[in-house]
Amino acid sequence: MVNQKGGVGKTTVVLGLASAAAHRGIETLVVDIDPQGNATTGLGVFEPTRSIDSVLIEERPGGINSVVETTGWTDDSGRRPLVAASSPALAAREPQLASDPLGAQDRLSVAMQGCSVPLVLVDCPPSLGLLTINALFAVDAVLVVTEPGAWAVDGVGRMLQTIDRIRTRRPDGGPEVSGIAVNRLGRTRDGRYWHEQLDSAYPEKCLPPVHLRAAVSEAAAQSRPIHSLGSRAGAAEAAGEFDVLLDILLRPVTADAPPTTESLPEGDI
Ligand SMILES: Nc1ncnc2c1ncn2[C@@H]1O[C@H](COP(=O)(O)OP(=O)(O)OP(=O)(O)O)[C@@H](O)[C@H]1O
Ligand SMILES: [Mg+2]
Repeated sequence: MVNQKGGVGKTTVVLGLASAAAHRGIETLVVDIDPQGNATTGLGVFEPTRSIDSVLIEERPGGINSVVETTGWTDDSGRRPLVAASSPALAAREPQLASDPLGAQDRLSVAMQGCSVPLVLVDCPPSLGLLTINALFAVDAVLVVTEPGAWAVDGVGRMLQTIDRIRTRRPDGGPEVSGIAVNRLGRTRDGRYWHEQLDSAYPEKCLPPVHLRAAVSEAAAQSRPIHSLGSRAGAAEAAGEFDVLLDILLRPVTADAPPTTESLPEGDI
């Protein structure tokens, strides 16, 4: 999940997808490479004993396995995800990575060699620095997360250009762009307008939106999966929207049908 812009919902979408995967029994690893550590906290890990920072210090093939731990989500909400936790030390790691004369853009990719978890979700910081670049060198697919707001079209465009540049440098031509996740879509005219702008700028890339719902921010604040909020107003609708995004992410890479952009029925907002 990427966007150089802050606060658009990258972490929220990571947590929503992790919740959808847990609910379906899919083993999932969340890699939190944002020094803010919001995904780590959202997964109920408050004092991680290990962190992803330690495998970015130098090239450590397969190193991710040594930092993976179980999250604080309970088993009754499905298969409990794993996390490679963030650390505030990541903020200082980024400038240090930049000083590697051979380039340090593939440390995460090297660390993930041999990782056997079927679904890995990477939460990126709000910048195009070396942490995000490491994620783009490591993943098979990217979800660009945005809000339907002013300059969203420009911001997404810059992100897509950066991904294109990575694709020319990666031997396998990756990562694929799974699509643009339009998050926090409200019922305002403004939201609808900017959503339409995004849809017409990227008609084949815009995915079914995730609506603005109090249940979504509550789940994150309580470090609980959205699928476990039960009858809380809006929770089932929000969970359903993340289910749809997960289906799209898990599509076979060879699928040629573009995703549909029809909205799901709106619940409580
Ligand atoms: N669909 C939604 N409905 C309600 N609140 C939302 C929704 N999406 C995100 N939020 C809230 O918006 C805030 C920002 O979201 P989030 O932290 O996921 O963004 P981010 O892109 O990860 O931010 P950063 O760039 O700082 O990492 C959070 O308080 C979150 O709970
Ligand atoms: Mg975040």
